[in-house]
Amino acid sequence: MNDNLHTLRCFGCGARSSGTEARPDFRCAACGDLFEVEYAGWSQRQGHDRPNPGALKWLWRERRASCEALDQSGVWRFRELLPILDNFGNAVTLREGNTPLYLLKRVSKSLGIDQLYAKHQGMNPTGSFKDTGMTAALSVARERGFEWVACASTGNTSAAMAAYAARAGMRSLVLIPEGKIAWGKLSQAMDYGAVTCQLKTDFDGCVRVLTQTVKQAPIYLLNSVNPYRLEGQKTPAFEIAEAFDWNVPDHLIVPGGNLANSSALGKGFKELRELGLVARLPRVSVIQAEGANPLVRSFAKSNGAVFEPVEAHTRATAIRIGNPASWRKAARVIQDTGGWCIDVSETEIAIAKAEIGTEGLGCEPASAVTLAGLKKLRAEGKVASSDIVVLVLTGHTLKDAEYTIGFHSGTLLTEQETVGREREVEALRRNAVVVEASPDAVLDVLKASAQ
Ligand code: F0G
Repeated sequence: MNDNLHTLRCFGCGARSSGTEARPDFRCAACGDLFEVEYAGWSQRQGHDRPNPGALKWLWRERRASCEALDQSGVWRFRELLPILDNFGNAVTLREGNTPLYLLKRVSKSLGIDQLYAKHQGMNPTGSFKDTGMTAALSVARERGFEWVACASTGNTSAAMAAYAARAGMRSLVLIPEGKIAWGKLSQAMDYGAVTCQLKTDFDGCVRVLTQTVKQAPIYLLNSVNPYRLEGQKTPAFEIAEAFDWNVPDHLIVPGGNLANSSALGKGFKELRELGLVARLPRVSVIQAEGANPLVRSFAKSNGAVFEPVEAHTRATAIRIGNPASWRKAARVIQDTGGWCIDVSETEIAIAKAEIGTEGLGCEPASAVTLAGLKKLRAEGKVASSDIVVLVLTGHTLKDAEYTIGFHSGTLLTEQETVGREREVEALRRNAVVVEASPDAVLDVLKASAQ
């Protein structure tokens, strides 16, 4: 039996091709835009290939009790909605997905929102949401017989790719901007055996170099221009819908970098609605850092119709991206769901990250833009107290320990960045103090902290 039911459709001109015909850079030969995966059989209402909602909900729940590797994956558990492989037995999985959805008790209280949740994608095997996309696209690479895979990355994609390639017995090539990624992420690529090149450029420069490289060598490109990445990355939408008993939350808030994640989650919710698994879509809002906000500018100028790259600067290195590949897809998701696209400052990101820390969860700086953005949207009256809101936390707090230590030791933000917010920052800071090795000294610290 062949499990493969997909075709590729150009997001720009609508041209269709089979998966095996795609160019190495995954750009449409006619118009240069990106492809998305399409399942033609789903639109035939009574068709043989159209999934049955009731049966699927039951099957997916049953699989949670299974000992099979494929069923234990939070991506492949939903495999009926990502039939991209000839044989699901070729899937390479680290048991990704099935990540927790946490209620944010303190933050929801301070914001006056009854139900605020964090979907913590940092709880994936390599510590970021990238694992869900990587299991999908790397499995395609393996099935098609590639030996080498490659990506340009701000760190998390490379960590995920290196891990999955190692599991599959494949070789991986990583291009990262020199000195601009968090150490935790670089260490992962090394640990999992990738060939790692630090290029003297930024992320956007790494993408340009890799796009040329894959045209000259038989290397399978695993950046998110690869449409199969998005098929894996859409599955948290299924998990979220399932967690709310197939009623979607009112609002999903996602960080925006290369803009694949927001595109993928939007695709996931749209497919659930198309197949009759949910009745409506959540709003999907995308939050960028002020210094890396090309989509925010595009919405301000033209409601997401026209796009100009920027030179990106932010301490949230994961989203230091000025020319995001999937901007058009993300813009469509925001427009179709009635979401917003806004940016937040470095100070707002740092404060929000520390607040998520106080919930006992933590996340990396790029993930914290979601809470910083929610605070702004709430202040502007765009989020009601009765709205059910889900923040997508994309990376684990240990990915960028240097940032966290910088915040708590007071070296992260400049004086200028803290002006007017000194008390807020001070209340969140928990520096590690050096004390004499005696109980009295420790008790003194305890007393001072209790005040
Ligand atoms: N959050 C984290 C932790 C990320 O690593 C990224 C992207 C994003 C958010 C933004 O997601 O690009 O889909 O809009 N990191 C990429 C990388 C670019 O190379 O690891 P996006």
